[in-house]
Amino acid sequence: MAHSADSNHLERQERFIKNLVAFTKEHRASHWSGPLSEFLEKQLPSNPHAATRTSHQYIWDMIRWQGGQDEDSKFHCKLFDDELFGIDDAIERVVDYFKAAAAGSEVGRRLLLLLGPPSGGKSTLVILLKRGLEEYSYTDAGALYGIRGCPVHESPLHLIPHTLRPSFRQTYGVEIMGEVCPHCRLRIEQQYGGDFMQMPIERIFMSEAGRVGIGTYAPHDPTTADLADLVGSVDLSKVAEYGDEGDPRAWSWSGAVYAASRGLLEMIEILKVKREFLYLLLTLTQEKNVKVSRFPLIYVDETIFAHTNLAEFRRFLQESENEALLDRMVIIQVPYTLNYRAEARIYQKLISAAEPAFREVHLDPHVLHTAAVFAILTRLHQGEDKDSDMSKKVRIHGGEEVEVVARPDAERIRDKLPNEGLVGVSPRFIINALSSAIIQSDAKSLTTMDVLLALKDAIENDARIDPKEKRKDVDFLVLARKDFYNRWVKEDVHKALFVSFEQEAQDLLDKYLDEVEAMLDNRKIKDPITNEERDPDERFLRAVEEKIHISDSGKQSFRQEVVRKAMGAYKRGEKFTLDSHAPLHDAVEQYLFGQRRDVLRLVSSTTRPDEEVKQKISVVEKRLVDEYGYDSHSAREALNYVTTLLAQE
Ligand SMILES: Nc1ncnc2c1ncn2[C@@H]1O[C@H](COP(=O)(O)OP(=O)(O)OP(=O)(O)O)[C@@H](O)[C@H]1O
Ligand SMILES: [Mg+2]
Ligand SMILES: [Zn+2]
Repeated sequence: MAHSADSNHLERQERFIKNLVAFTKEHRASHWSGPLSEFLEKQLPSNPHAATRTSHQYIWDMIRWQGGQDEDSKFHCKLFDDELFGIDDAIERVVDYFKAAAAGSEVGRRLLLLLGPPSGGKSTLVILLKRGLEEYSYTDAGALYGIRGCPVHESPLHLIPHTLRPSFRQTYGVEIMGEVCPHCRLRIEQQYGGDFMQMPIERIFMSEAGRVGIGTYAPHDPTTADLADLVGSVDLSKVAEYGDEGDPRAWSWSGAVYAASRGLLEMIEILKVKREFLYLLLTLTQEKNVKVSRFPLIYVDETIFAHTNLAEFRRFLQESENEALLDRMVIIQVPYTLNYRAEARIYQKLISAAEPAFREVHLDPHVLHTAAVFAILTRLHQGEDKDSDMSKKVRIHGGEEVEVVARPDAERIRDKLPNEGLVGVSPRFIINALSSAIIQSDAKSLTTMDVLLALKDAIENDARIDPKEKRKDVDFLVLARKDFYNRWVKEDVHKALFVSFEQEAQDLLDKYLDEVEAMLDNRKIKDPITNEERDPDERFLRAVEEKIHISDSGKQSFRQEVVRKAMGAYKRGEKFTLDSHAPLHDAVEQYLFGQRRDVLRLVSSTTRPDEEVKQKISVVEKRLVDEYGYDSHSAREALNYVTTLLAQE
């Protein structure tokens, strides 16, 4: 891990430099400004479509610009690849929403609501969209223009009077939507004597910090939250200057709704806000305007992206008046992932962003996966399933080949049950437990067992979990250990007993096949050196087969099936390897492991090991370190652990 941490670090540096270069390039993006007349002449004609994009179309263009490969003719968006793992379904739905809305579907007139359990990646998803928009707006394809000084950086085309719009459409082939805002309307009269062709236009760049095209609203305290936070209010300091409260210049245009115009408005914990907020937002998405008491309707085009957690949503559902509101939302669920490998990647990401004290601690190669298995177990449907069924489910969701399950069953298990992924522990919970294990023990190396204990501690000390739940969670820890960690660590230690496990296993497999084929053909086997002929080695065959409980009566059909598979592979021009046949894989491994177990017995049996024994053990330890991702501490622990396991078998 130390090695991979180094190369990760280098990679990160490289990526950072690349980003910096890209960033400066972007900032050389052509800034442009000029009066409307010049805009119409110089900027518009090259791409009239780009100038009339709605916020949904703009975001959809951004998503496509970020790139994505087609997977079975389906667009897979790259924007989220480096940051979000295991929630592809939710991401796909979000992408589909933008695709449909960009194409003019009715969904574009509904508010998008992400719904999911805490720390499930909702905010991260929105952040990635926001960063994506900022980046895109610096590119040529993402060039966007607005009226300079306009509080909603509105499209310059709003200045084109309605009577001229039909001929605009005939000239440029695109439709203008939207009206000039009250603020600009007044400026045209007062500053430019009605000559709108003189209104200043500029290229705009989306920026959350600059409050252009991106707005964020979080209710601090729902009871004092005021509609003014969203749509502004009279700016008393300016009333004196303009002499009239109704003057748009005396209005404070600081609301999040204005900032987000043309882009994205993120509404955090949206269901906590007062209902009048919700009505305003729903009208905004539906009608593309906001009503502020003293002005005519203000045209605003933006995409509202809201999120909330399940508890809040259930409370919201309880009020019947809210049902009508729900009709005007598109709800996308963002459940936790059920894939333990994806879950482990989340931990990896969170760790690499953590304090150095955390990052530098060595974790044995199964820490994150075992913790992830535990997390997934808590998220699965808790039915009448036996432990072994639960484990099987975890393996299938994790994309493991589980031979004993017939394919239709696997499909059925992969289909999520209603509540799955919406409950259970969050990635945060695991990371917090990990970090407290590190801080408390001051350790430089944590083993999976250390972490399982830390998780147990975290569960038992968590006041939010009720006692019954706690017992269940502890059972899941035991299950994760028994069905996953034990299997993984045993395999590592066993493999480390061999100079080249893969080679020896392949040799043994080849030998097994030769003997089986000779046996089925009633052939003799010729010794390659002495040329003597002998009968196939039935005792060897049975020794291998018994490892996976093939009975004497079942051996014939098992052998035939193996040969059939081997022939199939041969015909396809492939090599028949251990990966081609899961049961045989197990059998060969166990046969080999059985042969070397005596070394492991030495670990525990000799109280005062002599030099030779020490030597043998240290060779295994070294292989664990060099080839299997352990450090010397965790390698020793793993050896001891596996020795104890074997003693219990
Ligand atoms: N599927 C995932 N892939 C990668 N990282 C994830 C995933 N889910 C959560 N995370 C990480 O966990 C942390 C918490 O996620 P985030 O804040 O996005 O969750 P949230 O759904 O907004 O939670 P809340 O409801 O509590 O606001 C983030 O650092 C995020 O990167
Ligand atoms: Mg959040
Ligand atoms: Zn304006």
